[in-house]
Amino acid sequence: MAEVNVLVVDDEEVVLASCERALQSQGYAVISAQSVDQALAELENNSFDVVVADLVMPRKGGMELLKILRETYPQIRVIMITGYSSINTAVESIKLGAFDYLSKPFSPAELVLTVKKALEEKGRLVSPYLTDQEMPGQMIFDNIIGNSSRMIEVFKFVSKVAATDTTVLIIGESGTGKELVARAVHKNSRRKDNHFVVVDCLTLTPTLLESELFGHIKGSFTGAVSAKAGFFEVANQGTLFLDEIGDLSFDLQGKLLRVIQERKYTPVGGTEPRETDIRLVAATNKNLKKMVETGTFREDLFYRLYVVPIFLPPLRERKEDIPILVEHFLRKFSSRYQKPVPAMSEKVIKCLLNYAWPGNVRELENTIERAAVSFEGGEILPSDLPEQIQKEVGEGAGLAPGTLGELKKMKKQLREKAIEDIEKEFVLSALSSHNFSVAEAAKAVGMQRTNFYRLIRKYNIKLPKSEEELESADTHNHDH
Ligand SMILES: Nc1ncnc2c1ncn2[C@@H]1O[C@H](COP(=O)(O)OP(=O)(O)OP(=O)(O)O)[C@@H](O)[C@H]1O
Ligand SMILES: [Mg+2]
Repeated sequence: MAEVNVLVVDDEEVVLASCERALQSQGYAVISAQSVDQALAELENNSFDVVVADLVMPRKGGMELLKILRETYPQIRVIMITGYSSINTAVESIKLGAFDYLSKPFSPAELVLTVKKALEEKGRLVSPYLTDQEMPGQMIFDNIIGNSSRMIEVFKFVSKVAATDTTVLIIGESGTGKELVARAVHKNSRRKDNHFVVVDCLTLTPTLLESELFGHIKGSFTGAVSAKAGFFEVANQGTLFLDEIGDLSFDLQGKLLRVIQERKYTPVGGTEPRETDIRLVAATNKNLKKMVETGTFREDLFYRLYVVPIFLPPLRERKEDIPILVEHFLRKFSSRYQKPVPAMSEKVIKCLLNYAWPGNVRELENTIERAAVSFEGGEILPSDLPEQIQKEVGEGAGLAPGTLGELKKMKKQLREKAIEDIEKEFVLSALSSHNFSVAEAAKAVGMQRTNFYRLIRKYNIKLPKSEEELESADTHNHDH
């Protein structure tokens, strides 16, 4: 994973030092500056993900820095530090594009949480609506939309493995985006300027396999009127994508294994073996491990492929992604069919959020396409949806958006939920690395114990019995 770089700007050395310590404890690289001018010099020489800046400083203040940052470094998230007296300016700074502000005094934990939120927001830069300029040096995730923590993990993981040459196995239900991810691995690798070749294992037959993979020499069999390059030749220096690998017959699995092992092939009808340099990416919606147990998938091939697995979660486990996907597909299809971007009725959104999407993103995409094609003004109604989706009007999501604007509001609510998830994880990890001692965990993250305990209760985290009794007795005492 790429390193996180934070610039802290404050004229008070104490504040700088404590921010530095808190952020470094998270493994972030921190640089401090005591004035706006010094900060600008650092910005020239380094690239930062987040800037934390005091609003009030002698000579130039944080507001001035914010303006420069928004103009010159729009990709950097800015967090303002404010004293009690500058709260109005803090609000003003949000209007000017600051990500958030921290009121003095703040705890290290608050700082860390806010920076994490800002980074999470940065992770959202996978949206296709951002131009390259807003996303310098980022990985290419063409049209893979997602801002759920599950998908952000996938993006991070893909960034890591793309740089290597290792075999990757992508595992996920049908329609979860396995092919998109396979392409992303290729596009972010050193092989990106060579071919990405898809082999659909479902359509391979014993007779086709060899000539498809290895190619053939002219006249080598009836119908071979001209020489044909096989996938192995075309993919040389590039990536070979073995799609639906779980659907390959047992017999063909053996043949494929041999090729993978040797990385050498002889075209049908040829005599000279040829070398090939390919990176393998395979995908499956089957449980290959189980297939190995039941004897339908070769164990040796399994271990050849199962080097680095990437699990793509089904859409029902990352419903936060539904609004952003819907927005993406609405734009895509209304531009394709040259229609205005439709609005969606409140009920439609509820249906989409409550439905289980067995066909995952592909099913959602098809649903939106159908609705967009038949759209004739007004708004999309439940009756524009397939029957099984129309039925799903529970109270589950409790959201009521109707337009794209409201869709954005809904996204914000879901984001807040994601922040709660992070907070809970934060508490849990502090606890588990301190043997579930509330006192020690609270101290380590720099929070008051009672506040920390409040979070434990908020998230219903179970403590070992003795700790719990101790703490509730303790809290009780504090109340008196
Ligand atoms: N995260 C995503 N963002 C945008 N579009 C997506 C996303 N995931 C999937 N899609 C779209 O959904 C469709 C299915 O994706 P893809 O073909 O990659 O899935 P798959 O896992 O290979 O499915 P299958 O197992 O059925 O082959 C494609 O049209 C793809 O563009
Ligand atoms: Mg596929």
